[in-house]
Amino acid sequence: MTTDVSPRKRILFGRRRGKPLRKGQQVLIDEALPKLTVPISNGEIDLSALFKKEMADYWLEIGFGSGEHLSWQAEHNPEIGFIGCEPFLNGVATLLGKLTKSGVDNVRIHNDAAEILLDKLPAGSISRGFLLFPDPWPKTSHHKRRFVSSLNIERLAHVLKDGAELRIGTDHTGYGEWILWHFLNSEQFDWQAETAEDWRVRPADWPPTRYEQKALAKGLRPVYYRFRRRPR
Ligand SMILES: C[S@@+](CC[C@H](N)C(=O)[O-])C[C@H]1O[C@@H](n2cnc3c(N)ncnc32)[C@H](O)[C@@H]1O
Repeated sequence: MTTDVSPRKRILFGRRRGKPLRKGQQVLIDEALPKLTVPISNGEIDLSALFKKEMADYWLEIGFGSGEHLSWQAEHNPEIGFIGCEPFLNGVATLLGKLTKSGVDNVRIHNDAAEILLDKLPAGSISRGFLLFPDPWPKTSHHKRRFVSSLNIERLAHVLKDGAELRIGTDHTGYGEWILWHFLNSEQFDWQAETAEDWRVRPADWPPTRYEQKALAKGLRPVYYRFRRRPR
């Protein structure tokens, strides 16, 4: 991987913690999280070693929030190994609660910035990616904090398999335009849309997230982009 994250360069701008965890949530963080955490070391991550059985493919969700989309996908795709990235501990605790309730065992967690994980994943190891409602950072002076950037598109292109789909949703018009501009100008991705329906209507196998539901309740019209990793 050609990109490099200097340990001194700030890559995370959102919150790591919110209100104090309830007792049960703290137990999940102390006992369940260590068993599901993706180990980060100097070398590349061996995805097959993370799961108890052989997985058909590996999918990645970046910024899963409270995990409603990730847990839905994991339940509906038991043959897939999922990696979820979320630096916000309260969100991780909520996801752990859902996983414990449903009993699924095909999700592993990176409780930190996705960039750190992306730089450790093998080339072409991920068959589908999700970036759902990333923080829009609406102020112009904050645009450099947006997850979608040329550098992160390089990172995503590195880890995604040829032909892999990357799904990105946003309810923020300015960020929607920004995302499209960056991907249309990238040499590694094609936008999958052929008609307006393709990006205005959420596909049936893309359940709504909490953030999206709040946006819909405010009368906003999210966009649902699907990009395809071009063959190398
Ligand atoms: C607006 S919320 C959306 C959460 C969820 N996807 C949803 O739609 O409900 C954006 C999420 O991205 C997470 N996030 C921010 N920067 C991140 C990064 N560098 N890597 C991974 N997740 C990140 C935040 O902690 C937050 O939970």
